[in-house]
Amino acid sequence: MKRIAVLASGRGTNLEAILEAVERGDIFGEVALVISDQEQAQALQRAERRGVKALFMAPGNNGGREQYDRAIVEQLKEDRIDLVALAGFMRLLSPYFVNAFSMQIMNIHPSLLPAFPGLDGVEQALAYGVKVTGCTVHFVDEGLDTGPIILQEAVPVIQQDSVETLHQRIHASEHRLYPTAIDLFCREKLKVEGRRCMIID
Ligand code: GRF
Repeated sequence: MKRIAVLASGRGTNLEAILEAVERGDIFGEVALVISDQEQAQALQRAERRGVKALFMAPGNNGGREQYDRAIVEQLKEDRIDLVALAGFMRLLSPYFVNAFSMQIMNIHPSLLPAFPGLDGVEQALAYGVKVTGCTVHFVDEGLDTGPIILQEAVPVIQQDSVETLHQRIHASEHRLYPTAIDLFCREKLKVEGRRCMIID
């Protein structure tokens, strides 16, 4: 069984979906640790409610990104983490962090990458006028939302959509997709060749 850490800055609905999937036995692994860079993050409360180790790690004002990432990596190693799942973690990881867990860090993004990377993927899609958007689970590399794509699910945009209604439907899709991708990793069914991520039997 793989040991998973979830890093989240905000509401943590994806974290909740992952925790529920673990409880149902739909993920062949356990969430051993949740870390947030926001002391008040709902994600920390959700973890605590389910008896999962939850840590607030303060980014601090000096020392920069790498020093913070070194502290996180140290914690992840201490907890013998196999997979890091970013779920609304609002920080760009340093090359140090990415290399320490190469192809062992996943992210969920609310668009069909490579369209609309970065912040506000939902707003960007709506403003552009696409008729279909969705969500993407991908491995994290040193770029911004550029790593190998693991799974994607399409979500149609309807004429009456606001950012909120569209994001709601994307969220529902994320809550199915992310646990599925995590389970594939835990069962060692993902193989990456260059940019392509294959699912093996
Ligand atoms: C999700 O929309 C995800 O795609 C993005 O951040 C959001 C996190 O939502 N990376 P939540 O905190 O899991 O509810």
